[in-house]
Amino acid sequence: MIASLEYNNGMKKSIFAIFVVFGFTAFVLLFTKNASAPSDNLIKNTPVKSSSSTFDKQKYSLDTPDSLWWIVNKEHPINPITYAPSDLIVPNIGLRSPNSSESRIRQEAATSLENMVKTAKSQDINLLLVSGYRSYQLQVSVYNGYVQKLGQSGADKVSARPGTSEHQTGMAADLGTTSNQCELDVCFANLPEGKWLVENAYRYGFIVRYPEGKNKITGYDFEPWHFRYVGIELATEMHNQNIQTLEEFFNAIPDHQPY
Ligand code: DAL
Ligand code: ZN
Repeated sequence: MIASLEYNNGMKKSIFAIFVVFGFTAFVLLFTKNASAPSDNLIKNTPVKSSSSTFDKQKYSLDTPDSLWWIVNKEHPINPITYAPSDLIVPNIGLRSPNSSESRIRQEAATSLENMVKTAKSQDINLLLVSGYRSYQLQVSVYNGYVQKLGQSGADKVSARPGTSEHQTGMAADLGTTSNQCELDVCFANLPEGKWLVENAYRYGFIVRYPEGKNKITGYDFEPWHFRYVGIELATEMHNQNIQTLEEFFNAIPDHQPY
């Protein structure tokens, strides 16, 4: 009887010890796996995927001038119409027209653009700024030029009416190549520069603002050269969720385009 009790106690102790050893091993494995995950991402320089459930879509205003996520389109014009950013600078990159007022963009966008163009150059991708900030008055002459060439309905597919252009926010950049090829033309998408930008612009906070096949949503034809700075956090989230337009991401798709 006593022997059998001792035998049972011995068995219980052994089973308990096995559980302790297994539990400890599992804990150590789990802990070291999680602890190494962020440094893996840093080493590979890949963005940490942020989960859609934790992304704060209300972090910045969508309708306030100066806001990083300001949505400007045919439905949401610039308000006030005379708006001009106060922190425009000329980025330290190649410029199509160095003395033009269009060769400026807002400071944060300029710094990120400089980083992007520098990295691109190290990979033999030669970018330059064709057009950044455009005042209301400048957009009047740009838009009128398109109306003369294409008529108003033709112009409305490719050029924003004054007071509705993202260029007036100072956070849009039309990019080109130092070779001048396919400037402001859809064939830019097929150049190494256009392809590199599609792959990489989000890492620097830029999105292709008027993607192919999205004209019912954005109101404009495909513009593979027009990039909008929205910050790295949002651009990366949109990339990870495979959502291309601000209107889709923020559930602001218009029923129909006003014109
Ligand atoms: N080309 C774009 C739509 C603009 O004029 O702002
Ligand atoms: Zn543009």
